[in-house]
Amino acid sequence: MAIDDILMDDETIFRNIRVFNPDYVPDEFLYRESQMDALVLCLRPALKGGKPTNAVVVGSCATGKTTAIKKIFEKVGEYSEGILCVYVNCQLHTTRFNIFSQIYRKIFGIHPPETGIPFSRIYNAIMKYLRDNDQALVVALDDVNYLFHSKNANKIFYDILRAHEEFEGVRTGLFAIISDIEFRYLLDKNVNSVFIPQEIIFDPYTRDEMRSILLERVKVGFYPDVISDEVLDEITDKTMSIGDLRVGIDLLGLVGNIAEANASKIITEEHLESAIRNANSISLKSTISNLSGNERVLFNIILEATEEDRVAGNLYELLNGIKPLSYASFDRLLNKLEFLRLIDIRFTGKGMMGNSRVIILRFDSDAIEKCM
Ligand SMILES: Nc1ncnc2c1ncn2[C@@H]1O[C@H](COP(=O)(O)OP(=O)(O)OP(=O)(O)O)[C@@H](O)[C@H]1O
Ligand SMILES: [Mg+2]
Repeated sequence: MAIDDILMDDETIFRNIRVFNPDYVPDEFLYRESQMDALVLCLRPALKGGKPTNAVVVGSCATGKTTAIKKIFEKVGEYSEGILCVYVNCQLHTTRFNIFSQIYRKIFGIHPPETGIPFSRIYNAIMKYLRDNDQALVVALDDVNYLFHSKNANKIFYDILRAHEEFEGVRTGLFAIISDIEFRYLLDKNVNSVFIPQEIIFDPYTRDEMRSILLERVKVGFYPDVISDEVLDEITDKTMSIGDLRVGIDLLGLVGNIAEANASKIITEEHLESAIRNANSISLKSTISNLSGNERVLFNIILEATEEDRVAGNLYELLNGIKPLSYASFDRLLNKLEFLRLIDIRFTGKGMMGNSRVIILRFDSDAIEKCM
């Protein structure tokens, strides 16, 4: 089709294309009743004048953690004025000031001035408001691992959880959302003594669950009979093999777009094949964009190194020139990149102990550079 035709054509197979957007919150949130109940139980004491229960929300990617929190907070907002629930995306907000700005804005409707006022003024304003209005505060720190990269976590946890020591009667709670339970060991001892959380686990979905969730999306997103059972099965298999529901949802949107661009009223195998080719580059993009600071530094070094320098010893030296780290930390970073399937590590049988390692990029550097 000509570009004009594609843009102007108002025939569509999408009933609601928004349901394939990454920030869409589905009406039907399947298989998460027990986790939602557990979250509500943590908030319940606060409705009756008590202290909210702290929680750690744990589960691998795309298991519905963020969605669950958003749904619960929305409900509580409608239902009760006794709790102030603040959702913070720690990928975007990593400093103490930024995070308390989010709380401040939720209360007062405006951001505090960025400069010229000390942190304590903002903090005090928040806590006084909570005390005078007898409101409990629950802060959800989503993707809280980002705070550990910037080493701000302890202070922020402390600020929130020990507010009552300075402001009598203030009731605060914290939901930490994370994909790895290990994070507890990253907290200081004295934070650990006040942060004793309820663990709420989001298990990976089974194949049947994935399929039903995708089918639900299909029903809301496409007109009837646009997608066959077979194509949906293939999308489910692909999603399962990657272990990330987001891939399936993206793929549905992508394949719909491709069918539409081909002026087709149904989605065919060929459309799916071409969507999968596209999706591979999208998933590389998302892996790269989720790298932590040091992982990214090392990945960049590997990318820019000459073929000869892509051996562990040389890479370590190059890394040390930019970011001095122990060899053990370097090793961990390297293994993580391999785990993420960005690189392969091969033993050459050469070197001092016969264990010198060569690093091989799993994607060609053009494809990677496009994603960065
Ligand atoms: N049970 C479910 N029913 C319907 N849609 C779901 C369900 N679980 C997850 N999703 C969808 O999957 C996508 C990812 O969900 P969400 O962002 O809540 O996952 P997450 O656990 O926070 O992932 P991450 O750890 O990567 O942040 C979203 O589009 C969400 O709508
Ligand atoms: Mg999330």
